[in-house]
Amino acid sequence: MIENRSGESRRGVIGKAWIVMGVVAVAEAFWIVVDFLRPRRAHALDDADVVVAGPIDRFEPGSVTAFPAGKFYLVRLEDGGFLALARECTHLGCTVPWSPAENQFVCPCHSSVFDIHGEVLEQPAPRALDHYAVRIENGIVKVDISRPHRRQ
Ligand code: FES
Repeated sequence: MIENRSGESRRGVIGKAWIVMGVVAVAEAFWIVVDFLRPRRAHALDDADVVVAGPIDRFEPGSVTAFPAGKFYLVRLEDGGFLALARECTHLGCTVPWSPAENQFVCPCHSSVFDIHGEVLEQPAPRALDHYAVRIENGIVKVDISRPHRRQ
């Protein structure tokens, strides 16, 4: 049997290393199970996740207003409803400007075109523009930018 200077056999050192690795693996597995079983807190809306767009009357029906800080366009539809459309093109993520003259969004990168609802008029964009949840509280339009919603 081969022994090192301290008299401990190589087999003994390897055995101890296996024991240490086994303890670490069990601890990791335990942590994963505990983390999986731990109840999740409901997603609380943070103030940073909400953009206060302004009073309803500020937005004319048929208008599109850019909110660069929130990275969305607030669309006031002709029927009075609101849509908050993401500015990112669904093709490769370029910022899509609104073209009032053409009444549509035209991507400068590969020429995808979207209508005022964000629906694709011309590809290569594979799907409509993402949108954010809009809510109206006491006549004030607020947009939840915490998570864009994907449309097919
Ligand atoms: Fe908009 Fe390609 S990134 S069309």
